[in-house]
Amino acid sequence: MNQRASQAELLGASQARVAQVIDPVDWEHFCAEYWDRKPLYLADGSDRFASLADAATLRRLVESGTPWLYRRLPEMYIDSGFVPHEDLVHEYVDMDGRVARAPRLDRVRQLLLNGATANCFGQEAHFPELMALKLAFAQAFSAEVETSLFYSQKDHPGLAPHYDCGEIFVLQISGRKRWFVSDQRHVNPIVGYGGPVAYDDKAPHATIELEPGDLLYLPRGTFHHACALTEESLHTSVAIKMPSYLDLLQALAGNAADLDAMRDYLPLGGPAAWADARVELVERLRGATALPAYGAAVQRLLGRRIPAR
Ligand SMILES: [Fe+2]
Repeated sequence: MNQRASQAELLGASQARVAQVIDPVDWEHFCAEYWDRKPLYLADGSDRFASLADAATLRRLVESGTPWLYRRLPEMYIDSGFVPHEDLVHEYVDMDGRVARAPRLDRVRQLLLNGATANCFGQEAHFPELMALKLAFAQAFSAEVETSLFYSQKDHPGLAPHYDCGEIFVLQISGRKRWFVSDQRHVNPIVGYGGPVAYDDKAPHATIELEPGDLLYLPRGTFHHACALTEESLHTSVAIKMPSYLDLLQALAGNAADLDAMRDYLPLGGPAAWADARVELVERLRGATALPAYGAAVQRLLGRRIPAR
């Protein structure tokens, strides 16, 4: 089998896995009607996500401090308030003179006893089916994907109303959780850009109760918050981090210094003449995108985002 055929097969298998998650909505219909457009709620009520992870194991992991060993620190919330990382992590200098960190397990355990929410990243290391799900989403959407596990407790809200900067698929694994999904949506948010956007609590919102096996898809920028209705609730949040036009522009900028046309002077005449150079700029950008180096930069953008198999 040639490489292109096997890639197509891989993509087909990945899209089929995503299609199972969004069933009965099919892939094409989802992409045309919902993707980056509007939320999707699918009631299922089965144990179809039960093999992804389980609440008891995740709680044990949190109590033992394991999630603090991963690249992205876990987040804990208590009644809509974020617990600062420095309250939960002790930094020290090890025998080799390196700064190391260790979770303050007494605080973590007390927070859990008080009803805290824990949002843990990188836990697919402990849950093979969660890893398989992550890979399928990454392949299907050609995008970087982050899966986090949200452990939350009855009547204790986790995060305050907020939006995310990626497309979010919420897969309810166990327990029940009530979601508030606002009509308020911030346009095309990107991590690290722009100022804070205030939540409008007067905006219309949908109230959705997720049960095991249910799916909720939220386009980026959609304000939401949630609260567990059962003693424990566990869901995985699959976040799709699509490349944007800004990424393309940055890929182009990365090559620009190698291009004679881009190192060329702007015309004499100061800011007015430089502003008039916009037509010329667009022409030169067009020329730059036609060069093989641009194609290679775009490929690197893709490679950075999808884990190797
Ligand atoms: Fe969120």
